[in-house]
Amino acid sequence: MTFKICLSSNCEISVKASPHILISGVTGSTKTNTIFDILLSSLSTQRGIGARAYVIDGKGSDLASLKKFLPVAITPSQAAGMLRVLTKDMRRRYENFSGEFGKTAADYMDEDGRSVQQVVVVIDELAVLLRDPKIKGEIQRYLFELLVAARQASIYVAASAAKR
Ligand SMILES: Nc1ncnc2c1ncn2[C@@H]1O[C@H](COP(=O)(O)OP(=O)(O)O)[C@@H](O)[C@H]1O
Ligand SMILES: [Mg+2]
Repeated sequence: MTFKICLSSNCEISVKASPHILISGVTGSTKTNTIFDILLSSLSTQRGIGARAYVIDGKGSDLASLKKFLPVAITPSQAAGMLRVLTKDMRRRYENFSGEFGKTAADYMDEDGRSVQQVVVVIDELAVLLRDPKIKGEIQRYLFELLVAARQASIYVAASAAKR
């Protein structure tokens, strides 16, 4: 089981040291491209952690075309539904794997050497999803729970937000 995502020869992310990522910048500052690189590298078993990936694209634009290959949410209610499932998955992992101090879910192996798959959630243009006042609170609650507790469940969140 590896815990590093390699973006280039001199840029590696350790998911244990930096489990969650926020990419912030003005329009055109390569937020979407960076988040796409993180997604592709995470999926790879050579350059990354062989993750199962989930995609949320607040603008329903660049990353939405991945829907043929990966679960993709584009509306606030779809995003809330996806985050709800991931939060439940996180709680289930805690029930199954909470134990020794400092260990993550992916550190545990069964007798055949198998472990849970690490999960990466990428969210492009997070702020757009918070425009719906009814769903905003629900999305924020799930995100808060994931950001506080998901690392030990081997679930990682990378989000982008435009800076004005
Ligand atoms: N790795 C890169 N190196 C150089 N230029 C890039 C790179 N990634 C993206 N760009 C250029 O920057 C433009 C904006 O990138 P994008 O990721 O869409 O920005 P943002 O999401 O911040 O608006 C792209 O259309 C492309 O021309
Ligand atoms: Mg973008």
